[in-house]
Amino acid sequence: MTILGTALGIVFCLLRAVSGESGYAQNGDLEDAEPDYSFSCYSQLEVSGSQHLLRCAFEDPDVNSTHLRFEICEGLLDIKCLNFSKLQEIYFIKTNKFLLIGDSKICVKLGQRILTCRKMNIVHIVKPEAPFDIRVIYREEANDFVVTFNTSHLQKKYVKNLIHDVAYHQEKHEDDWMD
Ligand SMILES: *[C@@H]1O[C@H](CO)[C@@H](O)[C@H](O)[C@H]1NC(C)=O
Ligand SMILES: *[C@@H]1O[C@H](CO)[C@@H](O)[C@H](O)[C@H]1NC(C)=O
Ligand SMILES: *[C@@H]1O[C@H](CO)[C@@H](O)[C@H](O)[C@H]1NC(C)=O
Repeated sequence: MTILGTALGIVFCLLRAVSGESGYAQNGDLEDAEPDYSFSCYSQLEVSGSQHLLRCAFEDPDVNSTHLRFEICEGLLDIKCLNFSKLQEIYFIKTNKFLLIGDSKICVKLGQRILTCRKMNIVHIVKPEAPFDIRVIYREEANDFVVTFNTSHLQKKYVKNLIHDVAYHQEKHEDDWMD
């Protein structure tokens, strides 16, 4: 996912550079420039029963989204496309119709006109949920600590490898962090 993010970042920078070179908005007159409709999304799998949640939002908070809608096509069960619902500036879908195999195409549309699209794999943009039930046990004989925790992902079918970072300090020495 990080590699994909970097790759997209590079593509994005290249696009920026190209539009800069072609004299686009070079005099600093951004008013006439086409708005930047780039967006990002994340999913949460099996949020209620078998329903998954997908949320998308524009990167630029100034985009006037009044008449804009999001649509997802491909990678869906029994249906070609689905419209997102909208709550303020957040677009979302809660459904059990994601195939969770292969890419889906998510597009921003104004009426029937496509403004921009991105291909995404729902299972590659899962937002991790915070662990709970964190317990730390000191083992006297080994002079070490065992940290255990639970995560909602354990109950889910689609997340196989989840890595958490652990940092800790002694309660009375808050600056004394250890890895
Ligand atoms: C967004 O666009 C709509 C319709 O084009 C317009 O009525 C509204 O005032 C705009 N909102 C902002 C914050 O510019
Ligand atoms: C999504 O909404 C648009 C505009 O309201 C409508 O034309 C289109 O048929 C809808 N698509 C689906 C799959 O419901
Ligand atoms: C983790 O939490 C889930 C849901 O709260 C619970 O069903 C499960 O038994 C817990 N697992 C462990 C190892 O404590």
